[in-house]
Amino acid sequence: MTTAPPRAHLDHLWARGRALLGTSTAIMGGAMSWVSERHLVAAISNGGGFGVLACGSMGPDLLTAEIEATQALTGQPFGVNLITMHPELDALIDVCLRLGVSHVVLAGGLPSGPSIRRLKDGGAKVLCFAPAVALAKKLIRLGVDGLIIEGAEAGGHIGPVSTSVLAQEILPAVAHEVPVFVAGGIGRGEAILSYLEMGAAGVQIGTLFVCATESIAHPAFKAAFIRANARDAVPTAQLDPRFPVIPVRALRNKGTEAFTETQRRVIERVRAGDLDQKAGQLEIEHFWAGALRRAVIDGDVESGSLMAGQSVGLVKEEQPTRVIIDTLVAQAEAALAARASGAPQGSPSTPATVAAPVVPDPVA
Ligand SMILES: Cc1cc2nc3c(=O)[nH]c(=O)nc-3n(C[C@H](O)[C@H](O)[C@H](O)COP(=O)(O)O)c2cc1C
Repeated sequence: MTTAPPRAHLDHLWARGRALLGTSTAIMGGAMSWVSERHLVAAISNGGGFGVLACGSMGPDLLTAEIEATQALTGQPFGVNLITMHPELDALIDVCLRLGVSHVVLAGGLPSGPSIRRLKDGGAKVLCFAPAVALAKKLIRLGVDGLIIEGAEAGGHIGPVSTSVLAQEILPAVAHEVPVFVAGGIGRGEAILSYLEMGAAGVQIGTLFVCATESIAHPAFKAAFIRANARDAVPTAQLDPRFPVIPVRALRNKGTEAFTETQRRVIERVRAGDLDQKAGQLEIEHFWAGALRRAVIDGDVESGSLMAGQSVGLVKEEQPTRVIIDTLVAQAEAALAARASGAPQGSPSTPATVAAPVVPDPVA
């Protein structure tokens, strides 16, 4: 039975995450290409979470400008997400170190030992994604400061295993060694609490922040999220194992239908000898080029890529970032309070949302 006040108990549970991030909550805003730019990142960090800039395909100059602009909007810690297969990774690492970025998240494949070392020698903390126990242990040996485990419920590029199973496999094996953040499908504070109680140091959330007031996502992109149910966020279909497709979870739209059709046509042409296998694979891989930008920035929700996690079903309205974070914390606190009082959890008194802040954020 819990006796400490709920917030003190919560702060105890995520103490290691908060210490690593330097924040008041251990809620990371997962980097989302095109969405996680200066405004949303600063709003998450100003709201008590930990914003992470998505470098995506930016080159060193654009990344420099984005980091400096974010630093102008927040004095709170934030991180930068770099994709390991970026052709200019070393130059991007230099940019982060030169500008004093405190935390770098290496994503999109297993990072090399030298990349991790360079970041750490330059004074940055390094977080990486661990898709399995063996890789988590390897990354710990390479010196990472924290791990993120991301389940298949998440939006964007996904692995095959659900968050709940990854958490059961990986947390007991490595959570005592480095702080581990759980991502994928988290939409309420009770879920955060349950992962913390399993040994996580914090969580990473993407989908829930897309419709934040400060997010620059196009109104049509946000409207698609608000309309969607969990079952609308589906992984990309692969028609033939000889033509592998990198799975991405996104909202079903005309683009996903056209993608299936493109695969079917390519497969037929290769079978008929009109196209060689390599050219066919390239045609499939190029299908989505620029599609996320088209949806997020231009609002093309018909043919663009609507990357979204299953928690999209819990997104009901546009809300200030601070309200999103405060609501998650209030839900976790309410669950702890209900447990302490012996009341059943998930009762109607558990907040669905908290009131908007009275004092406007001066820099948001
Ligand atoms: C629109 C969108 C774009 C994303 N882009 C990236 C990215 O560029 N790099 C990355 O590491 N993760 C990316 N992600 C994953 C998020 O950082 C985060 O881990 C994920 O959204 C967490 O799961 P959730 O969506 O269920 O909250 C993206 C997710 C979404 C929804």
